[in-house]
Order: sequence, then structure tokens, then C-alpha cells
Amino acid sequence: MFRTPSLEHLHKVIVLNTKGGCGKTTLATNVASYYALRGPPPTLIDYDPHGFSMRWLDKRTTNRPAIHGIAAYEQGLQGSAELQVQSDTSAVIVDLPANIAVNDLYHHVHDADSILIPVLPSEIDIFSASRFIAELLLDVGLDRRNRRIAIVANRVRQNTRSWQMLTRFLTSLRIPMVSVLRDSQNYVQAAAQGIGILEMPGYRVRKDIESINAVVEWLDQWQMRRLDTVVEPGFEHLPGAEVLTPALRK
Ligand SMILES: Nc1ncnc2c1ncn2[C@@H]1O[C@H](COP(=O)(O)OP(=O)(O)OP(=O)(O)O)[C@@H](O)[C@H]1O
Ligand SMILES: [Mg+2]
Repeated sequence: MFRTPSLEHLHKVIVLNTKGGCGKTTLATNVASYYALRGPPPTLIDYDPHGFSMRWLDKRTTNRPAIHGIAAYEQGLQGSAELQVQSDTSAVIVDLPANIAVNDLYHHVHDADSILIPVLPSEIDIFSASRFIAELLLDVGLDRRNRRIAIVANRVRQNTRSWQMLTRFLTSLRIPMVSVLRDSQNYVQAAAQGIGILEMPGYRVRKDIESINAVVEWLDQWQMRRLDTVVEPGFEHLPGAEVLTPALRK
């Protein structure tokens, strides 16, 4: 699916859920913003004909850390057997549209490293997420040994009945819920400016930073294990251990 000179170091993150409006673009853009801040520039790939991820990128001012964008919807869901990803990219974040067919789903998830599924904690969303995840595991035949799947609960008001339903459902599938995003205008305002929560003034978004950090820590754990990396001596104290080197000193 992707063509890049350093393919084995490319972390492919897919954000999907066949249900509309559950927060796919919000999550994809926030993950892209994190990788941009950390560098090198990530690539955000938008398969949704509405192009909201690309619109978000258009709003991003040039003084912000760079993010490459690919409007893959111009080629259709199946039309991009190979996408040329810039050689300086080490993370690709794919924003998929709602209502994607099972056949198209396979095309996208088979070479993903990490799959993030945002779910709203309403009864109808949980019902449709359970059907969709069952399809993903059974009909699409997703092999969970080579990739990880996680749920991000979005727009949550805890201790409601639907919240309890969501946690029970996930426990039964043994899929982790890596983060809980609260319902907050901060996400809406960040989206309007082409930035992520991590790029907003800290005093306004303290709680939301924790939520986004939980997502990216989960992504980075996987990446570190996959690349068989160690932390450069002297940098062990850094959160997220940003400095990675190949494990040459084993
Ligand atoms: N945690 C949140 N708090 C408040 N608003 C949110 C939150 N997450 C998403 N939204 C808002 O909800 C709307 C839908 O979110 P988003 O576009 O990310 O969903 P989506 O799954 O990509 O939708 P679609 O299926 O149409 O592509 C947007 O207006 C977004 O700003
Ligand atoms: Mg979207």
C-alpha cells in the first residue's frame, strides 16, 4: 500500500469505525499533531471523500511542525495500490470514511501496524461497534498477532449506563481501551485551527493532554517493541524515551 525508502521503520496507524461521527478525524489529526511535534514529519492520509483531515491540514499555519498530506480519496478506496510516502516520514496515519465495505476494509487493515477505533459510548454506537469489530476479526480475518487494536472511548461522560456497557463489551473481546477523551470544545477549537490538543495552551487543555498522551504512549510502546529498539544511554529518564536507536548492544 505504501512505498517509501525506509518501509520497515514506517509505523502505519489506521483510524477506523464504520459508524459516522465517532471521532476518527479528531483522533487521526491529534495523532498526526503529536508525531509532527516529535518529528520527523508524519504523513496524514485521507480516504474520506469529505476530506476533513485535508481541510484540517489546509488550516495549519506554516509555523507549525510540518505534516505531509495525501488526499487519497481522489483515487477512491481501492484505487491506491501504492501511495508514495515521503522518505522523511516515519509515521503514517490513515483516516478512513464511515460506511466502508468489508472488502475495502481488508485492503486497508492488512498492512496496518496499529488500529485505533474511536467509539462513542451510546447504546447505538456500542451496538454498531460490536458488529463492526466482529466483522473485522471474522470476515476480514484480521490477524492480531502482527498488529494491535485498541479502542479510544470518545466524548465520554463516565458512570452512565452506556459507559458501563462499553467497558463490559471491551473486556469480553480482550481489546484494550487505551484512552478516554472527554466531551470538550477544546477538540472542536483545535480542529478549527489545524492543530492538535498538544499544540494548545497547556492551562486550557491539561485533562485532554493526558488523554492524547495515553493514545500516543500506546502507539509508541508498540513501535519500540517492533523496531527492537533500546533507549540511548543517558536518555532513559525522558518521558516516552524519544531517543531510539537500533538494539546493537544486546
Ligand atoms: N471529544 C470530543 N469533544 C467534543 N467534540 C468532539 C469530540 N470528538 C469529536 N468531536 C466533534 O464531533 C464531530 C465529529 O467528529 P469527527 O469528524 O472526528 O468524527 P468522524 O468519525 O471523523 O466523522 P465521519 O464519520 O463523518 O468522518 C466533529 O465536529 C468534532 O469536532
Ligand atoms: Mg472523519
